[in-house]
Amino acid sequence: MQKGELLYEGKAKKIYRTDDPDVYLVEYKDDATAFNGLKKGTISGKGELNNRISAHFFHLLEEKGIATHFLEQVSEREMLVRTLEIIPIEVVVRNIAAGSLAKRLGLEEGTALPRPVVEYYYKSDELGDPMINDDHIAALNLATPDELAALKKTALTVNNILREYLAPRRLELVDFKLEFGRHRGKILLGDEISPDTCRFWDTRTGEKLDKDRFRRDLGGVEEAYREVWHRLAG
Ligand code: TMP
Repeated sequence: MQKGELLYEGKAKKIYRTDDPDVYLVEYKDDATAFNGLKKGTISGKGELNNRISAHFFHLLEEKGIATHFLEQVSEREMLVRTLEIIPIEVVVRNIAAGSLAKRLGLEEGTALPRPVVEYYYKSDELGDPMINDDHIAALNLATPDELAALKKTALTVNNILREYLAPRRLELVDFKLEFGRHRGKILLGDEISPDTCRFWDTRTGEKLDKDRFRRDLGGVEEAYREVWHRLAG
């Protein structure tokens, strides 16, 4: 597969065309940002680890019947994916109060939620990804009601699959963010699933093994990503 024109460069990934019009190549970078790009840094080894971790999760989800954009990992930091017309909604699923939910609702971080909470955010750097509801999504015509229902259902199924998979690996899935897109009339799960986009806590110690180590200057960022990979692969 020939790596073609650079189509888009985001904060953590670059997307290239390939010689197949149905396939993009994703390159994972070591760059990290937080707070809508206000905080910048690099996490050495992150690109390779997030590529591996995402490939691993996409493979698992495909096995369990979730349609994703993932095709194959082609190098240390590159994977091939199906082309997507991205739906500009970030779907967040939460099992335990943390981050912005803990802040907004005045809950102590670590408070278990009685059932998963699903939230939507409008993907817009200019606006700082504001939280939106189903009426906003209809008003902005971001997705049809049927599409939104499918997104929510799939996100909750992904939550169940990942929690069940991670529990014996001593990882608590606190919360995570998914993105979806349209490909030849079908909705596919896109983007990445990694410690950049999920909160993982050690089940026993509560140690944070995700990007919060970077956001909150906790140190040991690369080690945490590596630990997640070891628990998945080992
Ligand atoms: P939050 O608590 O900051 O709203 O984050 C919820 C989840 O979404 C958490 O697992 C991290 C993930 N996330 C992203 O993937 N990208 C983002 O830009 C933000 C703010 C959060």
